[in-house]
Amino acid sequence: MQNVMVTGGAGFIGSNFVRHLLATQLELQVVTVDALTYAGCMENLENLPDPERHTFIRGSILNQPLLERIFREHQIDTVVHFAAETHVDRSIFEPRVFLDTNIIGTYTLLEAARKAWIDEAWVPVENCRFHQISTDEVFGTLEPSDPPFFEAQAYAPRSPYAASKASADHFVRAFGHTFGLPFSLSNSSNNYGPRQYPEKLIPLVILNAIEGKTLPIYGDGLQIRDWLYVEDHCRAIVDILQRGTVGSTYNIGGRNQSTNLDVVHQICTVLDTLHSGSSFVPHSDLIEFVPDRRGHDRRYAMDTSMIEIELGWKPIETLETGLRKTIHWFLSHADWIAAIKMKPDYREWMTKNYLQRGGGE
Ligand code: NAD
Ligand code: TYD
Repeated sequence: MQNVMVTGGAGFIGSNFVRHLLATQLELQVVTVDALTYAGCMENLENLPDPERHTFIRGSILNQPLLERIFREHQIDTVVHFAAETHVDRSIFEPRVFLDTNIIGTYTLLEAARKAWIDEAWVPVENCRFHQISTDEVFGTLEPSDPPFFEAQAYAPRSPYAASKASADHFVRAFGHTFGLPFSLSNSSNNYGPRQYPEKLIPLVILNAIEGKTLPIYGDGLQIRDWLYVEDHCRAIVDILQRGTVGSTYNIGGRNQSTNLDVVHQICTVLDTLHSGSSFVPHSDLIEFVPDRRGHDRRYAMDTSMIEIELGWKPIETLETGLRKTIHWFLSHADWIAAIKMKPDYREWMTKNYLQRGGGE
């Protein structure tokens, strides 16, 4: 691993990963390729450690000639593919862009990698790796007493987002099997941490609570997710790139299963102490139950024994310590929050998703 292309590196997990790579892998050159959709921004890439080793290219994973040029000019040997449309609620309103970006975009990137590494062999293929970032949502949903998802489990996606990610994963494996493209894949649970776009539950609740807006809980709030602190995720990906087996899949999870209602109460409790001067204490008074998401998956949980045994990886943060760090980050980055709120998309999305539910404002 010498020249790493990070797609979606201006988004939430991608930007944390770029930071992590530059800070921990001192020999690497990192090239971020990001289209800067509503979810990506240059603020996420400010104050990088050792920025001379980082190149930012604004471009789409749908643009194959551009991708081919980047592979060639930067002698890319490793791709970590984060770029995607990622919000389940948006995939319910407008599935089409999820097919374009997540399926056709991944296919286009695979074609560019195949050309660079196999057809034209700009870099010896044995030194190369295509790492696909996937999600636990491709496995479907669990009943309360079901065992957690394991790597070899059949895919059973139930939202347009999950279906598009599942399809992309199938293409990655198909390119590995059919063309010999060296790949690995990881399915992770729900991430949270600094720089997450405030459309997802945790940052949305933190921002709304700070401003005294309602905290919208879909349905009964008893849906269960496993929560993974983003830095733990980044460490796991590096472990897979360095020591994981080519052609393998690894589950990554935080060992933190919690109901949405519990997560929101925990955020409120931390804010009551970290933001004790606020006139909205106790913040839990802001909680409001709103109509449920269509097709809402009830429970996700991950069996992470494979990565723990094979690679010795374990999450460091508990939900409590990770939430504290996250809330502290949001409280001390008013400039980042202001920049996100300036985006027309943010207001439009809040209106579109929450006004019809009667909450969130
Ligand atoms: P995000 O929505 O914060 O960022 C996505 C990034 O991709 C943005 O910077 C956006 O500009 C970029 N992008 C979108 N379309 C593009 C295109 N056509 N070309 C180039 N760039 C494009 O996403 P995230 O939460 O950081 O998720 C990153 C990856 O991790 C996704 O593949 C997602 O499916 C996966 N994942 C996320 C979670 C989670 O909890 N957030 C959990 C498991 C897996
Ligand atoms: P989200 O952060 O959108 O991630 P995902 O749907 O990929 O798991 O949502 C996490 C959980 O929180 C999910 O069960 C839906 C729920 N949720 C709410 O209850 N209210 C909200 O405003 C949002 C955005 C999500």
